[in-house]
Amino acid sequence: MTEWIDVGALNDVPVRGARIIKTREGCVAVFRTADDQVYAIDNSCPHQGGPLSEGIVHGAAVTCPLHNWVISLKDGAAQGNDKGSVRTYPAQVEAGRILLDAALARSSKAA
Ligand code: FES
Repeated sequence: MTEWIDVGALNDVPVRGARIIKTREGCVAVFRTADDQVYAIDNSCPHQGGPLSEGIVHGAAVTCPLHNWVISLKDGAAQGNDKGSVRTYPAQVEAGRILLDAALARSSKAA
């Protein structure tokens, strides 16, 4: 069973934008879609490591700001003819707060 941890308010993340959350797995980009869904994926583009959190969200996908690869926020896979994927992490919104899987969100410094 997933244990959730609160990592901030939904309103702290711009609509169709992202915010970086530091976790024990490194920096995870939390994206907010136009209809207030949230998705957490690695911030590093599978092409050449571009910062996906600086890309534009459209639907449930983000366009990398460097060379315009489109990455699915749902499964982390590059779309179209591009190959590769990034890791995705469980995320949800409850009462206006963003929740991540506690196992991921706990800081490694606390260990
Ligand atoms: S680094 Fe993302 S498309 Fe090239």
